[in-house]
Amino acid sequence: MATKISLIGAGNIGGTVALLSAIKNLGNIVLVDIAKSIAKGKALDISHSLPVLQCNRKIIGTTSLKQIKNSKVIVVTAGVPRKEGMSRDDLVEINLNVIKKVGQGIRKYSPKSFVIVVTNPLDVMTWVLQKITNIPYSHVVGMAGVLDTSRFKFHLADELNLSIEDVSSSVLGGHGDDMVALLRHTTVSGVSLEDMIKMKKISRQKVNEIVQRIRTCGAEIITYMGTSAYYAPAAAVVQMIECYLRDQKKIFPCSAYLKGQYGFKNIYVGVPIVLGANGVEKIIEINLKKEEKEEFLKSVESVQAILNIAKKFI
Ligand code: NAI
Ligand code: 2OP
Repeated sequence: MATKISLIGAGNIGGTVALLSAIKNLGNIVLVDIAKSIAKGKALDISHSLPVLQCNRKIIGTTSLKQIKNSKVIVVTAGVPRKEGMSRDDLVEINLNVIKKVGQGIRKYSPKSFVIVVTNPLDVMTWVLQKITNIPYSHVVGMAGVLDTSRFKFHLADELNLSIEDVSSSVLGGHGDDMVALLRHTTVSGVSLEDMIKMKKISRQKVNEIVQRIRTCGAEIITYMGTSAYYAPAAAVVQMIECYLRDQKKIFPCSAYLKGQYGFKNIYVGVPIVLGANGVEKIIEINLKKEEKEEFLKSVESVQAILNIAKKFI
């Protein structure tokens, strides 16, 4: 059977994921959206690019969740994005109701899928979707760390005027203003960031500014565009879909369910995972130093506070 990728939510991120998936020839695509005929229009538009892209796939758009039946991968972006002045967490009640409905549909029509959640507040919506669908934890993950890390790598490489390919790093914790950039594990072509600072290639203050920027650049983009970022989030999602479908076993920071790892239980939060054909194949526990642990704890506490609110509505 041909690989089917269903995108629930055919807005800015969903539509861009569809196009990028076609460019990479990842599978047949089903776009689903409650907004009348938006998914149909986007599917037709992207289908018209298939001969140019040399991609022999089918793309359909629908309002019916029935069409997701037997998907290999499902990406959930359904919901409302932030507007200026809103935090990711302001979306909790509105998007919770959307995720509940979507989750019931996934449970009914495609309970064996690998599901990537994107809807904000990310870590909490991922938790809710897993609860509603009852899909194994290994097969429900949230996308945020790949995006946050990509943003960090971009700004660091830009500041150093070096290739983005030379920067290696990871951003953990919840997808919120307390996300944790692992500076101690950041390298530039194998040279630690600490050594780069000692060699005066970059100042500590500049590094701190970049860390702060990646925490707030989601909001910065909203002030420019009037809606939240979608090109980079979609690219991050597509990297995860490809890694799963092609069993690449890459290490990505993703929102994954913790069962005691890092000292936390029954919560989704951004940690390094091995992503392969079996979904989350491993959660990697990095030895964190005292200050890093404190930062991570603060971030987990922020997620927990929103999760407590969400639990009241389930
Ligand atoms: P968008 O507004 O362009 O698209 C959302 C789509 O969901 C809309 O077309 C809407 O009609 C649809 N929708 C609403 N309820 C639905 C339902 N019950 N079933 C099917 N479709 C439904 O928003 P965009 O920019 O695509 O963002 C989507 C979500 O992703 C937002 O919650 C946003 O905050 C979040 N986001 C998450 C990021 C992350 O790193 N995890 C990064 C950027 C955005
Ligand atoms: C972002 O980080 C708003 O979560 C969204 O761009």
